[in-house]
Amino acid sequence: MSTDDTTTTDDSTSNCGASTTDTDDSTSSCGGSTTDTDDSASSCGGASGSSDSSGCGASSDTDSNEQTVSATVDDFDADPGSLVAVGLGPGRPEGMTDRATAALADAEHIVGYTTYVDLLPDEITDDAEEIYDTPMCGEVSRTEEAVDRALAGNHVAIIGSGDPNVYALAGLALEITESKGATPSMLDFEVVPGVPAAQSCGARLGAPLVNDSVSISLSDHLTPMPEIESRLHAVASEEFTISIYNPWSRKRRENFQKACEILLAHRDADTPVGIVHGAGREDEEVEITTLGELESYGETDLIDMTTTVVIGNAETYVFDDRMVTPRGYETKYDY
Ligand SMILES: C[S@@+](CC[C@H](N)C(=O)[O-])C[C@H]1O[C@@H](n2cnc3c(N)ncnc32)[C@H](O)[C@@H]1O
Repeated sequence: MSTDDTTTTDDSTSNCGASTTDTDDSTSSCGGSTTDTDDSASSCGGASGSSDSSGCGASSDTDSNEQTVSATVDDFDADPGSLVAVGLGPGRPEGMTDRATAALADAEHIVGYTTYVDLLPDEITDDAEEIYDTPMCGEVSRTEEAVDRALAGNHVAIIGSGDPNVYALAGLALEITESKGATPSMLDFEVVPGVPAAQSCGARLGAPLVNDSVSISLSDHLTPMPEIESRLHAVASEEFTISIYNPWSRKRRENFQKACEILLAHRDADTPVGIVHGAGREDEEVEITTLGELESYGETDLIDMTTTVVIGNAETYVFDDRMVTPRGYETKYDY
C-alpha cells in the first residue's frame, strides 16, 4: 500500500478494528467510546480536536485543557496491543536509527503529524496497515488516537521528528494513557530515541555543543511568553551554549525579537550564532553569524519552524566556518 491509499486524516473515518458503531464522517473508530457525536471527535477516545483551531504556536489564550480525553480503558474489550513512540531524527531515512526503522516496520498502525508521515520511507508506509495523520496542532487528538488504537489491540507507533523526549509526544502519550486509567506496562509502552534537532544542527555547525548546553523553545503555545523570557534570562546569564527550538513564525515574530534582545543583554554582540534550517532534509541551509546580526535573519526564509538556532557561549569561536566551543582541555593540556 502506498501512503496515499492508507492515509487517514482527522477529516476522514479510520477504522482500527474494534468498534463497529461509528458513522460520523469525521470520526475514527478504535473500539473505544461509542457515544461520541462531536463533529471533530474521534470515537477512539474523543479528543475534541480543538487544537486544530487553537492558533497553535501563536500567542493566544487557547486553553489546551479544552481537549478532553473521553474513552477510558474500560471502554475497550480487546486485549491491549502496544504503543511505541518513535523518533525519526532530522528527516531523511538515513538519519533514522536502525531501531527506529525496525519499530516502524513492526507497527501495524502509524500515527503522526502529516509532515512527519511524509518523511517516512516508502517501504515503511507501504507495509503499514493504517496510517493516521493530522495537521499541525492536532497533538492531543493525534496522541489520544494512538493510545486508543493500542488499547483496541493494535501495534501502534506514534512518530515525531528528532527525539520523542524533546518537545515531543512521548510525555503526552503517557499522560493520556494515565488519564484513561491504563498503564504503560499494559501497552508495552516504549520510547525509541532519535537524533534531536539540536544535535543534528550542532553537527552541521561543527562542534558548538561540546560543553554544557541547554535547549529552549520559543513556542508560547503551551508556555506563556513571560515564562519563556524569564527562562531565557536565566540560561543566557550562565555559560551555556543555547539551542533555540521553534524560533520563529509569522505569529511569533515578537518572540524572536524579544529573545534576541534578552540574549544581547547577557552576551556580546560578536558571540557566534549558528542557524540551521531543515537539518538533514532536502532544503537544508546553514549559516554562521553573530548575535548582533541574529535579529535581522528573523525576516528571512532561513528562520522558520524547521530551524534551530545555536547561540555560542563566551568561549565559542569560529574556525574555518565551523563553530567550536572548547570543552576545557586547553586549560589542562598543551596542544
Ligand atoms: C516541536 S519541536 C520537535 C523537536 C524534535 N522532537 C527534536 O528532537 O528535534 C520542532 C522544532 O524542532 C526543530 N527542528 C525539527 N527538525 C529540524 C530540522 N530538521 N532542522 C532544524 N531544526 C529542526 C525546530 O526548531 C522546530 O521548530
